[in-house]
Amino acid sequence: MVEFTLPKKSRVGAGKAWPKPASAAAADLIEFKIYRWDPDTGANPRTDTYYVDRKDCAPMVLDGLIWIKSKIDPTLTFRRSCREGVCGSCAMNIDGENTLACTLAMEDVKGAIAVRPLPHLPVIKDLVPDLSTFYAQLRSIEPWLKTETPQPEKEWRQSHDDRTKLDGLYECILCACCSTSCPSYWWNGERFLGPAVLLQAYRWLIDSRDEATGDRLDNLEDPFRLYRCHTIMNCAQTCPKGLNPAKAIAEVKRMMVERHV
Ligand code: SF4
Ligand code: SF4
Ligand code: FES
Repeated sequence: MVEFTLPKKSRVGAGKAWPKPASAAAADLIEFKIYRWDPDTGANPRTDTYYVDRKDCAPMVLDGLIWIKSKIDPTLTFRRSCREGVCGSCAMNIDGENTLACTLAMEDVKGAIAVRPLPHLPVIKDLVPDLSTFYAQLRSIEPWLKTETPQPEKEWRQSHDDRTKLDGLYECILCACCSTSCPSYWWNGERFLGPAVLLQAYRWLIDSRDEATGDRLDNLEDPFRLYRCHTIMNCAQTCPKGLNPAKAIAEVKRMMVERHV
């Protein structure tokens, strides 16, 4: 049987247990177990333990992280912006699932709240993953309206029915929760575009105003870029916006078949 051993540098050690806030009652404490890694120290990653006073803190996991950063440990590093599920920047792995820290309530996590960066990406620092490849893949599908007919005087028009075809697609906030939960993306992340980018590709393929459908399909016709999706469905289960990238990928495959018959 093949045995896998993690490289020494990737083993996550026990970290620091930060003191409980003195003024809080024991019943009001929420325990966080947070992945920490600082590239400047040369040390292995570790898991630090913190306690948040829920009486002094707003309810979401992101609020807990901000509370820890402002009251206990200013070196804790994570991304966030909108704090209302719109920007996608606070995506992380919480309690074993990829989700948005700003839309998950601390109360909805049972036991200590374990927080790690999105899986299977290089880590820049603490909870901040390197999304460079993800964004390069997004750029590669040219996610903007491409047209050949002359620009109309006002806007590009679309019927109500054609507009509704974008429902379930335009809501994607590119948080990368789905792609980083996809086993095919873990193993072929450099070559398989992954569910988030393929959902975006489909969003432009079925936009009635777009005139580059053939070129877009040519760009996806590749054994790796599209066809590494094996319909495992992790992507649809994890999407914090309730979208279904696997269905979008199936639709792209259908369009691919239809243009060959
Ligand atoms: S499909 Fe959902 S999980 Fe994937 S990037 Fe878009 S919003 Fe995030
Ligand atoms: S359905 Fe496809 S894209 Fe979604 S998790 Fe499975 S292999 Fe990945
Ligand atoms: S902070 Fe913008 S989605 Fe969470």
